[in-house]
Amino acid sequence: MKALTYHGARDVRVEEVPDPILVQPDDIILKVTATAICGSDLHLYRGKIPQVHDGDILGHEFMGIVQEAGSGVTAVRKGDRVVVPFVIACGECFHCRLAEFSACETTNTGKGAAMNQKGIKPPAALFGYSHLYGGIPGGQAEYVRVPQANVGPLVIPDGLSDEQVLFLSDILPTGYQAVINAGIGPGSTVAIFGAGPVGLMSAACARMLGAEIIYMVDELQYRLDFAREAYGIVPINMGQVDDPAELIMSQTQGRGVDASIDAVGFEAKGSTTETILTNLKLEGSSGAALRQCIAATRRCGTVSVPGVYAGFIHAFLFGDAFDKGLTFKMGQTHAQALMPELLEKVLDGTLHPEIIISHRMGLAEAAEAYATFDKADDECRKVVLTP
Ligand SMILES: NC(=O)c1ccc[n+]([C@@H]2O[C@H](COP(=O)([O-])OP(=O)(O)OC[C@H]3O[C@@H](n4cnc5c(N)ncnc54)[C@H](O)[C@@H]3O)[C@@H](O)[C@H]2O)c1
Ligand SMILES: [Zn+2]
Ligand SMILES: [Zn+2]
Repeated sequence: MKALTYHGARDVRVEEVPDPILVQPDDIILKVTATAICGSDLHLYRGKIPQVHDGDILGHEFMGIVQEAGSGVTAVRKGDRVVVPFVIACGECFHCRLAEFSACETTNTGKGAAMNQKGIKPPAALFGYSHLYGGIPGGQAEYVRVPQANVGPLVIPDGLSDEQVLFLSDILPTGYQAVINAGIGPGSTVAIFGAGPVGLMSAACARMLGAEIIYMVDELQYRLDFAREAYGIVPINMGQVDDPAELIMSQTQGRGVDASIDAVGFEAKGSTTETILTNLKLEGSSGAALRQCIAATRRCGTVSVPGVYAGFIHAFLFGDAFDKGLTFKMGQTHAQALMPELLEKVLDGTLHPEIIISHRMGLAEAAEAYATFDKADDECRKVVLTP
């Protein structure tokens, strides 16, 4: 089959690789009908995530038709059309029973499981996301093996297109978890940093939950323009406004917003000093977006962090966070827990996640698609690939 494989920073290729086969009784083989590129894939693409091997198949946002099902699969059948969550979870361990699927203790037996030797449980395995997260081949491919098929895949009713439901695999539940963690409700004020796909899904979900004012910060004006049109956000272009948090403060009686959402993560663009610190590896992650979140949030408010972080941040303003009495919530999304209710919202017409798609390309053009999304060329917001 054909699949998108990793060969080093900014070197991904569509190649012929062996077809996947059933390994465990509860595996399925999926014929992929649509797959997307995530902002998290860009961290891999830029060579920022360790333990990605030459030839690894990427991709954790995908859906398709069940081609083959192992003898232990009861939740889906051959021929079903399903969306697969990016988190692989067993459904039975300590964390799965708490619906904390991304903390599943049993699925990650890869390099990340080296933690096991110290008696510490690793996080759940993810599709196509390095050997730290299990080294499981991803779904930017014609076919993919889906382990734990009784826990993850969600059957999609007829009448919905692939594009309407594909983002249930990751960014829609991620945006939803971000706003739930932020405590958004009717009348809330929120500042979302990052107008990429995760920021956009957060804005959609914040609107759904009744947020009153949504500030959105990015340097890409075309993404802000789209978000203003689609979700009525108040745009702040960080290329023009030196200190977005200060502006937000001045527009909220010097108080700040109820919650901030960091939908950027560890590759956030910051000041020259911050860039130097990151390049010198004095700062493992860029703290630019997180610092802005802390500064823009009111006393006793919440900072919600769906953006991915790795390692340490220089000058994390913990004193400010304490002084303000902030709550922090963060982490990988417990996708399985949120997918069914979000599918209902797509079905009843409340959510239209597909509107953010800007590029539709063939799997064969995946390398070009990565480059376009990485550079935000051609007003790219979100790419969907079809094998
Ligand atoms: N928690 C999860 O389970 C989960 C799931 C999916 C994605 N993610 C993470 O969410 C983050 C966003 O993903 P995405 O798909 O939207 O990626 P993206 O790269 O398309 O979007 C990031 C946006 O942030 C903007 N940006 C850069 N620096 C900024 C700053 N200092 N302030 C404000 N905006 C800034 C960029 O211009 C870009 O538009 C990534 O870190 C990704 O890994 C996490
Ligand atoms: Zn993702
Ligand atoms: Zn589990």
